[in-house]
Amino acid sequence: MISFLLSGDNPEIAIAEILSLAEAYGRLKGYWTDERILTIDFEGEEFFHRVAFSHEAIELHRICKTSELENVFSDIKVNGSFCVRVSGIGLKSDSNLEKKLGAILLKKGGHVDLQNPDTLVRVYLTKKNCYVGFLKFKQDKKQFLQRRPDKRPFFMPVVILPKLAKALVNLTSVKNGKILDPMCGTGSFLIEAGLMGLEIYGMDYYEDIAKGCKENLNFMKLNGKVLRGDVRDMPFKDNSFDGIVTDYPYFRATRKSRNEDLYERSLLEIKRVLKKGCRAVIVTNVELKDFPMEVVYRLSQRVHGSLTRRIYVLRKT
Ligand SMILES: C[S@@+](CC[C@H](N)C(=O)[O-])C[C@H]1O[C@@H](n2cnc3c(N)ncnc32)[C@H](O)[C@@H]1O
Repeated sequence: MISFLLSGDNPEIAIAEILSLAEAYGRLKGYWTDERILTIDFEGEEFFHRVAFSHEAIELHRICKTSELENVFSDIKVNGSFCVRVSGIGLKSDSNLEKKLGAILLKKGGHVDLQNPDTLVRVYLTKKNCYVGFLKFKQDKKQFLQRRPDKRPFFMPVVILPKLAKALVNLTSVKNGKILDPMCGTGSFLIEAGLMGLEIYGMDYYEDIAKGCKENLNFMKLNGKVLRGDVRDMPFKDNSFDGIVTDYPYFRATRKSRNEDLYERSLLEIKRVLKKGCRAVIVTNVELKDFPMEVVYRLSQRVHGSLTRRIYVLRKT
């Protein structure tokens, strides 16, 4: 069993991301959440390199009450160096607890290394439970800063930042295969999908934007096809893609858009070019009600006062 410490900025997206990846990489037998801890009963290949919206993951050893912690530690065997780290999730933890629990392990052999231990024993304390396990994954937060969109040769103000873009690609639940962004803009989704090793296809209505997107892919040393085209009438065969992820142009709710048929026609096209059983992740600033596909998740992300992104995960049945 694996417990994830979810990122606090949007636990809904964080949960959907892990569940989507678990389905892509193996069999999800069950899951539950406790505050910002998501525990999955999962059989399959490890997928930590894909995760964007979690800080850490542990291989779960035991769930217990605070009063049982010392007993649980008496059962833990560590070889070589170790370190114990305790964090309260939404509560303050006793600052002496790490030392107390470390002393129990020390008595049974091994030695303490706080910098680079062979085993990091991790404890998350929630109001109800203690999660004790071995650290398997720590998020590399620097990667998202290094890939900041303003560092790319082609930039547009309405871009999706790398961390969210990575999570939204993951919501397609694609492990390998072809990903399409038919309104690719600067290519934020394509860059994240390309870095995951997926085959990337982009399209934009405007020639100069499609060219700029291709420049960004080259800058990131990624191969991908980008063309000019209209999402309402795409030049792709039926059932071509394993996943689609795209971000619609942002319209003001009060202004009647010139693109009145955009949603209706593009959603039918997205369905047509998507393979059966596969997912499309749709981002928009307007609330949509009717879809020609099954809705797997309805999520949202507040950007600022007047902009909330709606995220719809759809499946072609
Ligand atoms: C919100 S932006 C996408 C931003 C992109 N996700 C990024 O991070 O850079 C929407 C894009 O849709 C494109 N677009 C608008 N109408 C379109 C259409 N009918 N077909 C294809 N692309 C379209 C716009 O040119 C714009 O680049």
